[in-house]
Amino acid sequence: MHDDAQHIPVLLAETMRLLDLSPGEIVVDCTVGQGGHSLALAEAVKPDGRVIGFDVDPAQLEFSCQRVRQASGRFEPIHANFVEAPRRLEALGLRTDAVLADLGYSSQQMDDPRRGFSFSADSPLDMRYDPHGPVTAADLIASLTERELADVIARYGEDPLARKIARKLAQTRQREPIRSTAQLAQVVQEAYGSRARRSRMHPATRTFMAFRIAVNDELAALGSLLEQVLEGAGKVNEGGWLNRGARVAVISFHSLEDRLVKRAFAELAQRGHATRLTKRPITATASEIAANPRSRSAKLRVVKVDGPVTQDAAPTVPDPPTQRRSMDASPYDT
Ligand SMILES: C[S@@+](CC[C@H](N)C(=O)[O-])C[C@H]1O[C@@H](n2cnc3c(N)ncnc32)[C@H](O)[C@@H]1O
Repeated sequence: MHDDAQHIPVLLAETMRLLDLSPGEIVVDCTVGQGGHSLALAEAVKPDGRVIGFDVDPAQLEFSCQRVRQASGRFEPIHANFVEAPRRLEALGLRTDAVLADLGYSSQQMDDPRRGFSFSADSPLDMRYDPHGPVTAADLIASLTERELADVIARYGEDPLARKIARKLAQTRQREPIRSTAQLAQVVQEAYGSRARRSRMHPATRTFMAFRIAVNDELAALGSLLEQVLEGAGKVNEGGWLNRGARVAVISFHSLEDRLVKRAFAELAQRGHATRLTKRPITATASEIAANPRSRSAKLRVVKVDGPVTQDAAPTVPDPPTQRRSMDASPYDT
């Protein structure tokens, strides 16, 4: 049985309400993880709908594939980055009615000491979601300049001591390579000095988040996905990967991610290609946060793709009885 998932799906009820799926629809889950959302998506579209699930981590996909198939049937796993989703769908001759991206890591990945995401156990400094990904956190720390290290920690970790931490990393790596989570946590702790005692969270928390985002190029992947949503929404009349009426939901956990989503969805609305179903992001209730502290920083935004209005798609406007319309004027040519 696969009911031993370690990850609790975030904002599940709100996501399902806004995606408003019907039996027979085709859904893309960009980030399958432990399959909590996929399971609910598959339930909602059965018996003849399909969930196409992407994840760069083959272990997550294998676990979820069995979990979702045992419970609900049609689930098609694809081991690939979600930036590939439009191309893969087109190759399968499919268009989607709904897309979900629940960004970041699954609790199972974070809690697995072999993956190097956390300083709670000493392990190799890896942090790749995809075990075949090109760079580990240890590679980045060994190869970036002190300035680049500071930029990563400041930008993605928003740590006010970024420069100090980067200097300490640069000094330490001259003596010995930094290859373990314990070493990285120790260096950050040293950079914090006596301030570490005043910090509410472990001083290395922000630095670990920053390297995780950099290793997996998370903002670039999200940016590319959103770009393809913009493109797909503009092409619903000519094919493309999004069906007219497709709902696109993104759950983000970082202010930089949410800013990208907010801007892309605002642009879609401004172009008249989509309607925002969430004017403000939806966040977790106090009871969800109490049950699952990870949901504290989650933000859900959803749009519904309308696509460009064409004459075919436009409602018919009857001719006014006393006026003649020119041959090729459309009801929208004013
Ligand atoms: C927050 S978890 C998803 C949890 C899932 N919704 C659930 O309920 O179990 C995010 C998952 O996305 C995967 N992931 C992160 N970035 C990805 C990307 N660019 N392409 C594909 N998968 C990605 C991670 O490996 C992780 O398994």
